[in-house]
Amino acid sequence: MTIPDPSILRSAFGAFMTGVTVVTARQVDGTPVGFTANSFSSVSLDPPLLLVCPGKFLSSYQTFATCTHFAVSVLAEGQEDIASVFARSKSDRFAETAHHDDLHGVPVIDGAIAQFSCTTHQVVEAGDHCVLLGRIVALEQSGAPGLGYVSGRFFSLGTERAALDHGAGTTIAGAIVQDGDHVLLQQTPAGLAPLHCAHADRGALLDHLRDGLRAMGVQATLGQAYSVFDDTGARTHHSYFLATGVQSHPHPDVVALPIIDLPTHSYASPAIRTMMHRFAREASARSFGLYFGDTEHGAVHAPIQRM
Ligand SMILES: Cc1cc2nc3c(=O)[nH]c(=O)nc-3n(C[C@H](O)[C@H](O)[C@H](O)COP(=O)(O)O)c2cc1C
Repeated sequence: MTIPDPSILRSAFGAFMTGVTVVTARQVDGTPVGFTANSFSSVSLDPPLLLVCPGKFLSSYQTFATCTHFAVSVLAEGQEDIASVFARSKSDRFAETAHHDDLHGVPVIDGAIAQFSCTTHQVVEAGDHCVLLGRIVALEQSGAPGLGYVSGRFFSLGTERAALDHGAGTTIAGAIVQDGDHVLLQQTPAGLAPLHCAHADRGALLDHLRDGLRAMGVQATLGQAYSVFDDTGARTHHSYFLATGVQSHPHPDVVALPIIDLPTHSYASPAIRTMMHRFAREASARSFGLYFGDTEHGAVHAPIQRM
């Protein structure tokens, strides 16, 4: 058999849709290292094993090929920026990204939909990569939708499907922007609401939201989807995301309120009130679920299980 042209092979491999992960470890001197990887795969339930393939071209290759512990964070919709930071050379990746240490002291990415903490099970030589097999000793998981990747592009299936499934009515995209122990909200004639915008082009939901936030003088990084619901009476579809950020320019409609006070305010609709009360509760535990439903019925897909 003839060896396939590398560019054709790369393009054929790239046609396989995947999620996106950030794989992390610490060098012997304690310095954290990490890279974006879509070569992640589940391997075994008993024992619990996963794999990822670090390339020999990585500056951190030796660390991954010899580490005793590593972690895999599965990125959420809205974490494209983190995927790009961990795929880019020459930036202080951890300074730019919210993270915390797992039980082994290995950094894991905040807001990831799953965080697997592993001990190294086996390292298998494999051409210009190795196969790093990890035994999972702890994991955290949220019900939030994951970020996708195919043919060199990120996609957000949950967001896009939610947006596209709702052909009728207006789509409202919003962000609950946390700034330390405050949250930035928008004062509307009907009451408080997350910073939001309404638009017709549902395919570009997140781009519109980012533009809308910038127009309100808010610099924010969007995180996981937090609440996706229909208001059938008003023929509107709502998608709200968690975000962290700051108000860089004052805007007459934007207020910063302490999270602890959120239950005392009045909101633009009962659905938004319910969402903001849940946010106040979940913020204290730093553990956020995802609501799917309508204004009457639905379920919070809560973060679940620790092993
Ligand atoms: C979506 C995506 C998936 C990637 N998957 C892998 C992978 O599975 N293995 C790998 O070695 N590099 C992968 N990369 C490339 C590395 O992330 C990138 O080369 C690395 O961050 C460079 O790190 P360095 O500057 O420390 O060498 C991927 C990049 C992207 C954008």
